[in-house]
Amino acid sequence: MQNRAQTEELLKAAAEAMAHAYAPYSHFHVGAALRSASGQIYSGCNVENAVFPIGSCAETNAIAAAVRAEGDNFSIAAISIVARDAKGAMAPVAPCGACRQAILEFGAEADVIFTDSTGRHQTRNIQSLLPDAFRLTAR
Ligand code: THU
Repeated sequence: MQNRAQTEELLKAAAEAMAHAYAPYSHFHVGAALRSASGQIYSGCNVENAVFPIGSCAETNAIAAAVRAEGDNFSIAAISIVARDAKGAMAPVAPCGACRQAILEFGAEADVIFTDSTGRHQTRNIQSLLPDAFRLTAR
Protein backbone atom coordinates (compact mmCIF):
# COMPACT_ATOMS: atom_id res chain seq x y z
CA MET A 1 0.00 0.00 0.00
CA GLN A 2 1.32 3.45 -0.91
CA ASN A 3 1.64 5.92 1.95
CA ARG A 4 -0.01 9.32 1.71
CA ALA A 5 3.04 11.06 0.19
CA GLN A 6 3.50 8.30 -2.39
CA THR A 7 -0.18 8.46 -3.31
CA GLU A 8 0.01 12.23 -3.73
CA GLU A 9 3.12 11.87 -5.87
CA LEU A 10 1.39 9.37 -8.17
CA LEU A 11 -1.72 11.53 -8.46
CA LYS A 12 0.43 14.55 -9.35
CA ALA A 13 2.28 12.58 -12.03
CA ALA A 14 -1.04 11.35 -13.43
CA ALA A 15 -2.35 14.92 -13.58
CA GLU A 16 0.79 16.03 -15.43
CA ALA A 17 0.32 13.23 -17.95
CA MET A 18 -3.37 14.09 -18.33
CA ALA A 19 -2.34 17.56 -19.57
CA HIS A 20 -0.87 15.81 -22.65
CA ALA A 21 -3.96 13.74 -23.51
CA TYR A 22 -5.07 13.68 -27.14
CA ALA A 23 -8.83 13.40 -26.87
CA PRO A 24 -10.49 15.48 -29.60
CA TYR A 25 -13.37 13.01 -29.95
CA SER A 26 -14.46 12.25 -26.38
CA HIS A 27 -13.01 15.42 -24.79
CA PHE A 28 -12.34 13.13 -21.81
CA HIS A 29 -8.72 13.67 -20.80
CA VAL A 30 -7.12 10.86 -18.80
CA GLY A 31 -3.72 10.54 -17.15
CA ALA A 32 -2.22 7.53 -15.42
CA ALA A 33 0.97 7.16 -13.42
CA LEU A 34 2.37 3.96 -11.98
CA ARG A 35 5.12 3.14 -9.53
CA SER A 36 7.08 0.06 -10.48
CA ALA A 37 8.48 -2.36 -7.94
CA SER A 38 11.86 -0.69 -8.54
CA GLY A 39 10.40 2.62 -7.33
CA GLN A 40 10.37 4.42 -10.68
CA ILE A 41 7.33 6.37 -11.87
CA TYR A 42 6.02 6.04 -15.43
CA SER A 43 3.04 7.86 -16.86
CA GLY A 44 0.78 7.92 -19.88
CA CYS A 45 -2.25 9.70 -21.31
CA ASN A 46 -5.07 8.61 -23.57
CA VAL A 47 -4.41 8.94 -27.30
CA GLU A 48 -7.51 8.86 -29.46
CA ASN A 49 -7.82 8.33 -33.19
CA ALA A 50 -10.30 9.10 -35.98
CA VAL A 51 -10.63 5.32 -36.23
CA PHE A 52 -12.14 5.10 -32.77
CA PRO A 53 -11.20 1.50 -31.83
CA ILE A 54 -7.47 2.13 -32.20
CA GLY A 55 -7.40 4.86 -29.59
CA SER A 56 -5.51 3.88 -26.46
CA CYS A 57 -6.06 4.37 -22.76
CA ALA A 58 -3.80 6.26 -20.37
CA GLU A 59 -3.15 3.17 -18.25
CA THR A 60 -1.96 0.97 -21.12
CA ASN A 61 0.27 3.77 -22.40
CA ALA A 62 1.87 4.16 -18.95
CA ILE A 63 2.42 0.39 -18.85
CA ALA A 64 4.01 0.46 -22.33
CA ALA A 65 6.46 3.16 -21.19
CA ALA A 66 7.38 1.09 -18.12
CA VAL A 67 7.91 -2.10 -20.12
CA ARG A 68 10.13 -0.16 -22.54
CA ALA A 69 12.23 1.08 -19.63
CA GLU A 70 12.39 -1.98 -17.38
CA GLY A 71 11.70 -4.96 -19.62
CA ASP A 72 10.95 -8.36 -18.10
CA ASN A 73 11.68 -7.23 -14.54
CA PHE A 74 8.87 -4.68 -14.57
CA SER A 75 6.01 -5.05 -12.13
CA ILE A 76 3.43 -2.56 -10.88
CA ALA A 77 3.26 -1.63 -7.20
CA ALA A 78 0.56 0.99 -7.68
CA ILE A 79 -1.16 2.93 -10.45
CA SER A 80 -3.19 6.12 -10.24
CA ILE A 81 -5.71 7.44 -12.76
CA VAL A 82 -7.21 10.92 -13.06
CA ALA A 83 -9.51 12.50 -15.64
CA ARG A 84 -11.07 15.76 -16.71
CA ASP A 85 -14.33 15.96 -18.60
CA ALA A 86 -15.20 18.14 -21.58
CA LYS A 87 -15.86 21.10 -19.26
CA GLY A 88 -12.44 20.73 -17.63
CA ALA A 89 -13.83 19.43 -14.34
CA MET A 90 -12.18 16.55 -12.51
CA ALA A 91 -14.19 13.44 -13.35
CA PRO A 92 -14.62 9.99 -11.83
CA VAL A 93 -12.54 7.43 -13.71
CA ALA A 94 -12.44 3.83 -12.63
CA PRO A 95 -10.16 1.92 -15.00
CA CYS A 96 -11.92 0.22 -17.92
CA GLY A 97 -12.12 -3.55 -18.07
CA ALA A 98 -9.32 -3.92 -20.62
CA CYS A 99 -7.02 -1.76 -18.49
CA ARG A 100 -7.81 -3.87 -15.41
CA GLN A 101 -6.61 -6.90 -17.35
CA ALA A 102 -3.48 -5.01 -18.49
CA ILE A 103 -2.71 -3.92 -14.90
CA LEU A 104 -3.14 -7.46 -13.58
CA GLU A 105 -0.65 -8.78 -16.14
CA PHE A 106 2.13 -6.75 -14.53
CA GLY A 107 0.90 -6.41 -10.96
CA ALA A 108 -1.12 -9.16 -9.37
CA GLU A 109 -1.01 -7.20 -6.09
CA ALA A 110 -1.18 -3.70 -7.59
CA ASP A 111 -2.98 -0.93 -5.75
CA VAL A 112 -5.25 1.04 -8.07
CA ILE A 113 -5.89 4.65 -7.02
CA PHE A 114 -8.78 6.36 -8.76
CA THR A 115 -11.56 8.88 -8.26
CA ASP A 116 -14.89 7.30 -7.47
CA SER A 117 -18.32 8.67 -8.34
CA THR A 118 -18.37 10.76 -5.14
CA GLY A 119 -15.18 12.56 -6.20
CA ARG A 120 -13.02 10.87 -3.55
CA HIS A 121 -9.80 9.02 -4.25
CA GLN A 122 -9.98 5.41 -3.34
CA THR A 123 -7.38 2.66 -3.38
CA ARG A 124 -8.43 -0.83 -4.41
CA ASN A 125 -6.41 -3.96 -4.98
CA ILE A 126 -6.50 -5.01 -8.64
CA GLN A 127 -7.85 -8.45 -7.73
CA SER A 128 -10.91 -6.89 -6.13
CA LEU A 129 -11.48 -4.92 -9.34
CA LEU A 130 -11.07 -7.98 -11.57
CA PRO A 131 -12.09 -11.14 -9.74
CA ASP A 132 -11.62 -14.54 -11.39
CA ALA A 133 -9.40 -12.96 -14.02
CA PHE A 134 -8.07 -14.80 -17.04
CA ARG A 135 -4.41 -15.79 -16.68
CA LEU A 136 -2.46 -17.72 -19.31
CA THR A 137 0.79 -18.22 -17.45
CA ALA A 138 1.92 -17.45 -13.92
CA ARG A 139 4.47 -14.66 -13.83
N1 THU B 1 -10.01 6.08 -21.08
C1 THU B 1 -8.79 5.87 -20.49
O1 THU B 1 -7.76 6.42 -20.92
N2 THU B 1 -8.74 5.02 -19.43
C2 THU B 1 -9.82 4.38 -18.88
O2 THU B 1 -9.67 3.56 -17.99
C3 THU B 1 -11.17 4.71 -19.35
C4 THU B 1 -11.24 5.45 -20.63
C5 THU B 1 -10.07 6.98 -22.24
C6 THU B 1 -10.35 6.29 -23.55
C7 THU B 1 -10.97 7.40 -24.36
O3 THU B 1 -9.91 8.15 -24.97
C8 THU B 1 -11.65 8.28 -23.32
O4 THU B 1 -11.12 7.90 -22.07
C9 THU B 1 -13.16 8.12 -23.30
O5 THU B 1 -13.53 6.80 -23.20
